[in-house]
Amino acid sequence: MAAALVALVLDGLQPTLAWRPSPADFASAALAARNDFRLRKFEMSGQFPEDTHFDELDWNTGFAEVWLYALRAARLALPKASGSLRQAARGLRTARSERRLHRSFAAAGEAFDHIVGELQRLANETPVVEHRDCSPAMSAVNRSIHLSNGLEMPMLGLGTTMLNGENGKGAILAALREGYRLIDTAQAYGNEAEVGEAVLESGLPRSEIFIATKLSEDRDCKRGRARDRVQAQLQLLKTSYIDQYMLHGPCPGMLGAWKDLEELYDAGVLRSLGVSNFDLDELSRFVKKVRIAPHLVQNKFSIYHRGWAPVDPARDIARAFREQGRVVMGYCNLDAYPHLLQPLEDTFVRRIATHCRRTVAQVLLRHALQHGTVVIPKSERPERLRENADIFDFALSPEDMRILDALPMLAHHGREPGYVDDVFGLRNRDELAAPADL
Ligand SMILES: NC(=O)c1ccc[n+]([C@@H]2O[C@H](COP(=O)([O-])OP(=O)(O)OC[C@H]3O[C@@H](n4cnc5c(N)ncnc54)[C@H](OP(=O)(O)O)[C@@H]3O)[C@@H](O)[C@H]2O)c1
Ligand SMILES: *[C@@H]1O[C@H](CO)[C@@H](O)[C@H](O)[C@H]1NC(C)=O
Repeated sequence: MAAALVALVLDGLQPTLAWRPSPADFASAALAARNDFRLRKFEMSGQFPEDTHFDELDWNTGFAEVWLYALRAARLALPKASGSLRQAARGLRTARSERRLHRSFAAAGEAFDHIVGELQRLANETPVVEHRDCSPAMSAVNRSIHLSNGLEMPMLGLGTTMLNGENGKGAILAALREGYRLIDTAQAYGNEAEVGEAVLESGLPRSEIFIATKLSEDRDCKRGRARDRVQAQLQLLKTSYIDQYMLHGPCPGMLGAWKDLEELYDAGVLRSLGVSNFDLDELSRFVKKVRIAPHLVQNKFSIYHRGWAPVDPARDIARAFREQGRVVMGYCNLDAYPHLLQPLEDTFVRRIATHCRRTVAQVLLRHALQHGTVVIPKSERPERLRENADIFDFALSPEDMRILDALPMLAHHGREPGYVDDVFGLRNRDELAAPADL
């Protein structure tokens, strides 16, 4: 009785939404996370999965995020079970050793076992059919954006990791034929030659294509070496200039390397400069020491993590970079990397996609676009290249954007993402502050 009353009062404090996910949505989301096959396998074997793609973040953090998402979504589906679920979440967030964390996984599993039947029953309820306005007029997005030096750049590009060899070149060429005019590559991807060949074979004038590449290797990150690296990349790309050139990440000799890049920028060889995988503090320190500040930042941008790659620093750093006048290019909008929660499987994104009669990938890309972020989805399948480019004739309503923007509150593991408009009302029932028996 008291708990129900508290829940009612807390509900009253939540901001109003024209549409909010139903208990059925929250139940489905909770079950989907809990049934993550890698988490299940880990529980069975006690061994971390072998996955070559998952190296930036440790498995413990990845699993903790999946569990927290499951527990919080379950709490929203079944407010009366809130106490034990919150306690399980607290265990995950406060564990300071691997042994304790693994015990918290087990405790989370037990708390979940108690309610799994009820969640399944809820999830099976027929969803309410709603009509949503997904017309492009809801939120205008331009097809291109101007960098602070005036250079125009497309808002949609092709990501090219793993697009190597003949197949890779074929995909890049297919993308150019599909209308992609921005190609994102890097020294590290080993496919600059393929990019150059595809551009030539496309028959498109070089001036219509925007090529972005990066200096990836630490040994090239010094005065003199960076210049040589760029020359080698120009040869591979078979071009006389590069539209956007980034440091792939902070590297030991980057101030010296940047001097080379500034000279190449002055000479018109590099048309704009950028950095990738920098957090806000790293970039502010960097900017104080260089003559030409980066025009662009390329960082991870997903519905769960808006900003940097390895950790969520609890700030919307994409917005902060934009407010500094830099263009933000988001990577891995679709892919979970370097985390575990998979945006393409997300229950809320799927619901919105169904209502807008769009694919999940299109909703994810559109979400990033409406945040003013340049998107560079990678695919080697022609039908997906087309699908991923078809994101300019619909829009997400402000309500749908608010739901998607609130997902970091479900997914976060470390500090609470303070920048999030907490439409689910999770902050009010914080796992660390509130007493367990509320
Ligand atoms: N600066 C950095 O450190 C950094 C880090 C990571 C990425 N990047 C850049 O960002 C680009 C994008 O990131 P990413 O390639 O890692 O991930 P992504 O583009 O978010 O996702 C690519 C994955 O999603 C699949 N996919 C693509 N379109 C799909 C669709 N419509 N429906 C379902 N699945 C779809 C692709 O498979 P198929 O190919 O089989 O379709 C691939 O497995 C990279 O290619 C790279 O250029 C930069
Ligand atoms: C689109 O471009 C116009 C003209 O450059 C600009 O005024 C407007 O702010 C841009 N819109 C968005 C959403 O960026």
